[in-house]
Amino acid sequence: MKIINEFNEMRQIVKKMKREDLSVGFVPTMGYLHDGHLSLVKAAKVDNDIIVVSIFVNPTQFGPNEDLDTYPRDLEKDQSLLENLDVDYLFFPKVEQMYPGGYGTYVNVESGLTNKLCGKSRPGHFKGVTTIVSKLFNIVNPDKAYFGQKDAQQVSVINRMVKDLNFDIEIIAVPIVRENDGLAMSSRNVNLSEKERQDALTLSKSLNKAKDLILLDNIKKTDIIKNEMMEIIESVDSSKIDYIEIVDMENLESIDIVEGKVLIALAVHIGKTRLIDNIIMEA
Ligand code: PAJ
Repeated sequence: MKIINEFNEMRQIVKKMKREDLSVGFVPTMGYLHDGHLSLVKAAKVDNDIIVVSIFVNPTQFGPNEDLDTYPRDLEKDQSLLENLDVDYLFFPKVEQMYPGGYGTYVNVESGLTNKLCGKSRPGHFKGVTTIVSKLFNIVNPDKAYFGQKDAQQVSVINRMVKDLNFDIEIIAVPIVRENDGLAMSSRNVNLSEKERQDALTLSKSLNKAKDLILLDNIKKTDIIKNEMMEIIESVDSSKIDYIEIVDMENLESIDIVEGKVLIALAVHIGKTRLIDNIIMEA
């Protein structure tokens, strides 16, 4: 695996690959890789000749009081995980490369997709995501790019952006990878204490409860479902709910009655760590 720091070098490499008619699959990440990230790489390997993974902790998607400075990093470990999967190129630019002095252009999805769920409590977050992903798409110019359903709203926002800006890139969404006990894998899980790690199981438990209520008990009123979920999460004292929402999968608008394809999504602080999780259901 070759590590590329300069965007121009990355661009030249991809140009050469394209001249040789090789397809390029791209997996953007912020590093501190786990099996969730690696499932994206594995999916990319099935469909493409050349795999590019990027690691860039993108400052513009973190708010002023968020965890940019403490975001976990371990390049050496990430490198060996990617080498084990035979990744071809790791694009690892420096912040000054991506946002040099005088930088002033941002990509913002202005449809209702970005002002709800995580966008409500993290204003500017998706603007940072769509800006960096556009930049990475322009540099790597992949045929296909892979995103995790763990960040369901991110997938919706990226799909909107790709459509609106006519990026010639196919977006592939990959299912959530969980620990054996149900906790959705996340780079931020490393910040949980042993007790918090246990408490964090209430997130997936509450989603499973919602699924049972809908499928087994035929309960369709979202208020009832959300209340039951809230009770499970609030049973641990380390939790502070940011949101629990049941929304239409297409436009992410809140719904009163579960019908068709819905996204049940939540964000919860466990101690100081903000975690997200979701399930998609068809009822
Ligand atoms: P990061 O949080 O590092 O995640 C990189 C990709 O891995 C995202 O598409 C995310 O949805 C996916 N992912 C994370 N945990 C997962 C899990 N448990 N199962 C499946 N997929 C999982 O998301 C970002 O970085 C950034 O916003 C980025 C898109 C790189 C832009 O900076």
